[in-house]
Amino acid sequence: MFEEKTVLTGIKPTGTPHLGNLVGAIKPVIDMSNEAEKSYIFIADLHALNAVRDSDLIKKWTNEVAATFLALGLDTKKAVFFRQSDVSEIYKLTVMLMNVTSKGLMNRSHAYKAVSAENVENGNAPDAGINMGLYTYPILMAADILLYNTDVVPVGQDQKQHVEMARDIAGSFNHTYNDEVLVVPEPVIPKATSAIPGLDGRKMSKSYENHIPIFAEPKKLKKSIMRIVTDSKRPEDPKDPDDSTIYQLYQHFAPKDKADEMRKQFTSGGLGYGDAKKMLFEMIDTSIEESRSKYYELLAHPEKIDEVLEDGAKRAQAVAVETVNKVSKAMLGKII
Ligand code: ADP
Ligand code: TRP
Repeated sequence: MFEEKTVLTGIKPTGTPHLGNLVGAIKPVIDMSNEAEKSYIFIADLHALNAVRDSDLIKKWTNEVAATFLALGLDTKKAVFFRQSDVSEIYKLTVMLMNVTSKGLMNRSHAYKAVSAENVENGNAPDAGINMGLYTYPILMAADILLYNTDVVPVGQDQKQHVEMARDIAGSFNHTYNDEVLVVPEPVIPKATSAIPGLDGRKMSKSYENHIPIFAEPKKLKKSIMRIVTDSKRPEDPKDPDDSTIYQLYQHFAPKDKADEMRKQFTSGGLGYGDAKKMLFEMIDTSIEESRSKYYELLAHPEKIDEVLEDGAKRAQAVAVETVNKVSKAMLGKII
């Protein structure tokens, strides 16, 4: 699907990656980059700024996200893997694109509208706590996408509108300056993997504090898994696997025959939740064991992570400079 295309995606460093992120975002991005002709994967640290006010946390989470991708085998010779803030052309392009972006377009952004609606619901002023980073988030994201001549942006449903805004902004620039300088990107929503449930059965999310970190130490991993909320069915009772967090998680890590086996045992009765949790722990633990050692090894040597990201930034910058040159020539009649 991505052959002969330039694909790009960004991941915000807003927490320690969890199993939901792994299955819903990190694995699909690694697969996509193996398929694509050219891929750009970056850690969107500038996008985290509107919410995270602690530089130590941004650095910690950036390193954790980077180490996760590297430990899981992202091929960084092929994929251009970098930190958003390391390519200074992003600042230039963002400022220039502001001038071909209508305020009305920003007013329609779901991300900003959601916060505003919540404010009103809580009896606060609509703009309470909303900074311009959040309000203009889609312009920075458009600059990310347009800087690298991106054809395709694989994103979750929640980010589709932002990619459509990047299309609008590119179209507006090309129209205003009578030129086809910017490549108009397309969003692709990877086939829906249903949301991974968390410890309490709701969608696994940092905001619900029901998540399991991907590389939790075995003891902690086991403890988390044993805390998964279940109903009061006895071992011999038949259970609906599709309604069970344990099975939902298990099927993402187990080979098909093992997953089918648990499914059968649940349906027919005879497998208790305690035993099923132990099976789940063993399965996740063995499948991530090797990556987990690499992950901690990398975090213990952040200079190794920096080296990879800096190499990626150099390769990204070579392309970014060309885009900024073309845009500034069109807008200012000179190269900036
Ligand atoms: P969180 O909800 O923990 O804050 P994010 O919103 O930062 O997670 O999500 C980052 C990426 O991980 C997104 O692409 C999102 O679709 C994916 N993701 C997050 N939680 C899940 C989940 N429970 N199941 C599947 N994918 C998920
Ligand atoms: N906004 C995206 C998110 O919240 C992260 C992101 C930043 C991104 N820039 C991007 C995604 C460019 C795709 C393309 O998940």
